[in-house]
Amino acid sequence: MSAPLFVRAAVPTDGVQHARETFRQAFGSDATGVWSAPGRLNIIGEHVDYSGGPCLPIALPHRAYLALSARTDRKIRLVSAQSQAAVTLLDLDDIGPKRSAGEVSGWSAYLAGVAWALEEEYGRDHPGFDAALWSCVPQGGGLSSSAAIECSLAVALDEVWGIGLAGSSASPNGPGRTHLAHFAIRAENEVAGARTGGLDQNASLRCRQGHALALDCRDFSARDVPFDLAADGLEILIIDTQVSHSLADGHYAARRADCEEAARILGVHQLVDVDDVEAAMRALDSQRLRRRVRHVLSEIARTRAFGDLLDAGALTGTRRDVARLLLDDSHDSLRDDFEVSCPQLDVAVDTARAVGAYGSRMTGGGFGGSAFALVTPEITQSVTRAVADAYDARGWHSPRFIQARPSGPAAREDE
Ligand code: GLA
Repeated sequence: MSAPLFVRAAVPTDGVQHARETFRQAFGSDATGVWSAPGRLNIIGEHVDYSGGPCLPIALPHRAYLALSARTDRKIRLVSAQSQAAVTLLDLDDIGPKRSAGEVSGWSAYLAGVAWALEEEYGRDHPGFDAALWSCVPQGGGLSSSAAIECSLAVALDEVWGIGLAGSSASPNGPGRTHLAHFAIRAENEVAGARTGGLDQNASLRCRQGHALALDCRDFSARDVPFDLAADGLEILIIDTQVSHSLADGHYAARRADCEEAARILGVHQLVDVDDVEAAMRALDSQRLRRRVRHVLSEIARTRAFGDLLDAGALTGTRRDVARLLLDDSHDSLRDDFEVSCPQLDVAVDTARAVGAYGSRMTGGGFGGSAFALVTPEITQSVTRAVADAYDARGWHSPRFIQARPSGPAAREDE
């Protein structure tokens, strides 16, 4: 049996160099600059963002790097080191929402969408650009590889087009970046055609190094919460099931539609506004909608409790036991009530728990993608071995592992 495979993040200088090299090969010149943005791991608060609930993401050290130069016309040329496709040629005047004449698809839609959304607000008179992408965020891994792409271009165009929302990446959690996230969300919702809830783009633009972002999705207000797991003797181990998921398929949209229908029946704007859980359960006839609402309301309560735990001090002693319960309950609720897990996620989680993890749950949209476990460094190896063996015994594709630490937000890489 081969050793468990770890996916390490590129060191930034290598990421910059790969993006620059991809640019040079495609366009035969040097890019003016390189910008990058991270993938994210959501610690807790899953499938609640589009119901106005709270989330608690961290930025990953894994980032998308984008080398870019402005042009003198309105054309866009895009290339990605991760895609076999040749250069995508577009015109800023032709990009439009999904199912319109200007529809774009695939990874280039995430980039084209950001340019389109910014021009919706700031006018259709900006220069086009050439851009080359190199990313080490696992694709389809539930770690927001698409938001990383969007946000790398959002910070690039913010600078190149002279918009000036991003400010300093050392204090990323201000109104400018909240506004910038809004354009990345529009890109994904309207041009890429995935009606996601905003967690990922806010995480990629606003998470601070060494911190989690306590994000309130009612209005996207947020605060930084110190999250120094190493000091608490813990590590985050991500298990990428290698079951690829797409947020643009029907499952994600069906869950969101269930939540919106339940909110309509209950007479609230969003499910976060429900204040009497028992009355809400009685008011819903459909078993399915009752289960969906039970997940959303219990997850909102768990996420608030987790935030309080972090505020209270180190994750040691009783606090560590409470954290474990909250994470484990979150997964069970996503599996049983929200029905967004899959056998590979469940086996990863059950195995990590059996080996002694301090809580384990799926993260992101589900139906594949990644799970994570809170572990002590002493058991990291036994957890990875046990999960890899469990997959092997079932004849599944080997999982991949990532050791995550709370990292910094989208930023210019080289001045
Ligand atoms: C995906 C979406 C987010 C969020 C999560 C589930 O990552 O992009 O908006 O809904 O799933 O919490």
